[in-house]
Amino acid sequence: RSTTEADLAPIEVGQAVTVVWRGKPVFIRHRAAKEIEEARQTPLSDLKDPEADQRRVIKDPWLVMVGICTHLGCVPLGQKPTDAKGEYGGWFCPCHGSHYDTSGRIRKGPAPKNLVVPPYAFTSNTRIRIG
Ligand code: FES
Repeated sequence: RSTTEADLAPIEVGQAVTVVWRGKPVFIRHRAAKEIEEARQTPLSDLKDPEADQRRVIKDPWLVMVGICTHLGCVPLGQKPTDAKGEYGGWFCPCHGSHYDTSGRIRKGPAPKNLVVPPYAFTSNTRIRIG
């Protein structure tokens, strides 16, 4: 399948789900206000791959990203409540220790790039189509 539909309505604040798009995991997180604020307040000069949070998001509070570490392709932790989320509260790749922030941007470790935002669109207030 070249597109994947996801229903966001059941995903509660602070929760994340993973869907599959073209064989890849796609992370969808319903960010808490604090997570959004942290991402927006981070100066671009602190970032290895500078990108404003607003440019990574279509509609608040939803963050949608391909869940593949940009180092060597492991799937980062951070989707489950009990997962390690790394030093920046987003995702942590245990393979070689890359830390991603609440916008999925690389903050520490060997990964060169932010987690990738796939092409997607809202088909209703609470549904997206990826791809
Ligand atoms: Fe994620 Fe190396 S694959 S840190």
